[in-house]
Amino acid sequence: MTIRLGDKAPDFSQESTAGTINFHEWSGDSWCILFSHPKDFTPVCTTELGFVSKLKSEFESRNCKVIGLSVDGLSDHEGWSADIEETQGVALNFPLIADPDRTVSNLYDMIHPNANDTLTVRSVFIIDPNKKVRLIITYPASTGRNFEEVLRVLDSLQLTDKHKVATPVNWKNGDDVIIVPALSNEDAKERFPNGWKELKPYLRVVAQPQ
Ligand code: BEZ
Repeated sequence: MTIRLGDKAPDFSQESTAGTINFHEWSGDSWCILFSHPKDFTPVCTTELGFVSKLKSEFESRNCKVIGLSVDGLSDHEGWSADIEETQGVALNFPLIADPDRTVSNLYDMIHPNANDTLTVRSVFIIDPNKKVRLIITYPASTGRNFEEVLRVLDSLQLTDKHKVATPVNWKNGDDVIIVPALSNEDAKERFPNGWKELKPYLRVVAQPQ
C-alpha cells in the first residue's frame, strides 16, 4: 500500500512494549511520530532510540506522541530495551511495536524490497490529530536519522496550520517566515499589522507570529 501526504494514516492493533496498541485510539488528540527500524540489536537504531527517549519533553511540549517499530518480536524488544538503557544512559520511554508478521510494516509500506526484502527501512511519518499523514521521510538503513529535523518539521506544521505562513529554507522556530502567496496584501495587513518586507510580490517576509 502506498501512503501519500494528506492520506488518512491506516489504523492497526498490534503488540508493543507498552501492551496492545490500537493506533488511532492510542494517538487520540495528539500529533504522532511513527518510525521504523530495520532490526533489533543493531547499532544505529540503538543510538536513535536512546536519542528519541532523551527528547521526551520536547515531544510532550508539542503535544506529540512517539512510537517506534521493528520487525522483531516482543521478547527481542524487551532484551534490546535493556541494552538501550545500558549503552545510551536512558530508558526507552515510548512504545516499540513488535511486527514479526509485518502487518504494520506492509500497511505503511516500510519494506522496500530493492533495499531489503524482509527488513523495514528507516521510515518516519508525522501524523496530525486528525490522523492525516503530514510528513514522510525514508532513510537508508546505514544512516541514522536527524530527529532535530523531525522536531523542526513538527514546529513548522504546527505553525503553518495556525497562520497563513510557510517556513523558508533552514527555518528554525523563532526565525522569520513567509506570507503564503494566496493571501492578498489587503488580507495580510489585517493579519500582520506590523508589516512585512516585500522582496518580490510573491516573497513577503514577516516575523514569526506567536
Ligand atoms: C543499524 O541500525 O545499525 C543498522 C541496521 C541495518 C543495517 C545497517 C545498520
